[in-house]
Amino acid sequence: MLGLRVRAETPGPPVWKGEYDWRKFPPAYAQVQTRIWAFLFFESWSEMPLTDKFGRAITDLRVSVTDRCNFRCVYCRSANPENHMSADDLLSWDEYERLVRILVAMGIRKVRVTGGEPLVREGVEDFIARLKALGVQDLSMTTNAHLLAERCDRLVGAGLGRINISLDSLDRAKFERITRTKSFDKVMAGIDAAQASPLRPVKINAVLVRGVNDDEVEAFAQFARERDLIMRFIEFMPLDADRAWTRDTVVTGAEVHRRISAMWPLVPVVHERSETARKYRFADGRGEIGLISSVSQPFCGFCSRIRLTADGKLRTCLFSKDDHDLKFLLRGGATDREIGDEILAIVAEKEKGHRINEPGFVPPSRTMVFIGG
Ligand code: 5AD
Ligand code: SF4
Repeated sequence: MLGLRVRAETPGPPVWKGEYDWRKFPPAYAQVQTRIWAFLFFESWSEMPLTDKFGRAITDLRVSVTDRCNFRCVYCRSANPENHMSADDLLSWDEYERLVRILVAMGIRKVRVTGGEPLVREGVEDFIARLKALGVQDLSMTTNAHLLAERCDRLVGAGLGRINISLDSLDRAKFERITRTKSFDKVMAGIDAAQASPLRPVKINAVLVRGVNDDEVEAFAQFARERDLIMRFIEFMPLDADRAWTRDTVVTGAEVHRRISAMWPLVPVVHERSETARKYRFADGRGEIGLISSVSQPFCGFCSRIRLTADGKLRTCLFSKDDHDLKFLLRGGATDREIGDEILAIVAEKEKGHRINEPGFVPPSRTMVFIGG
């Protein structure tokens, strides 16, 4: 068509370089430029990297495979039973595979499998193997590790590349209060198994909540040093079922950095701009820390992520007001091309960023366990 379409080694799409400056690169301009570029150089979306109207390349997908979880972490779920999605509402493994295949053709390179707790859904190892076979370059999972010790070998065998384990206290009693389980030993065994596997170095996620576990910052840092692992401190976000989040409950990354570097000098580690964590290693030894300051220092300007929920909705932001039903298309006989076109349109409209720090912020109606961490 037009004789203008050239394939292969054409220059990349107008993905911005350097600091993002909204004035120099206004959204409408970026979008038009992306579209023209795609029209001229690509035969179809299947060769066109997913890009939103702000020019951000979307390369990371988080796939929630269940809304169920065997824990009830206070910053995530309610103590009261929630309604779970029915089996029919959940995407089947075949449906997930089809969507991921389409998305990989559109430029998704990283896939993180999440939940709820992904290991409670039977068949997740086979799913990992299927994702690997689709050519996903960076394949990871977020888990609470309750079931990890007995499943670690199979996950590695299936092709899992990396793992993030949630651990919000090193103190057994406090761990039990936060997670509302008695699983401390199982989680520790899961961490041991992962550290003894090719998944090493394991990333440990702690959501810090003021008055709950903020007294453990230094202990977590010590844990990273002793165990030679990556300890990530996550700011509490307003995604909890009990709606207990307030600004005062957030422990900032800056505070964590100050406290840890007062004990052990920290050296910054280079990171990709789209990465959520600011990373530091200890100047005098093993271990690393990551600060995920989503609230105090949002990194939305460089976000490369989209999310697929267990009921087949595409979410372009954790804090999206709406999600977009792909299951309806999958089950309604849509072709891959139609689904791809819909994804392209949804992603183009990805939010500029979350508005936690703006007046009148309203948390999304879906809480973390229903979105996928
Ligand atoms: N704030 C920040 N992170 C959260 N997670 C769950 N709820 C919250 C919240 N309110 C993240 C944690 C956990 C993963 C499953 O989801 O990082 O490890
Ligand atoms: Fe489960 Fe993770 Fe939520 Fe804890 S944070 S209740 S482990 S989904």
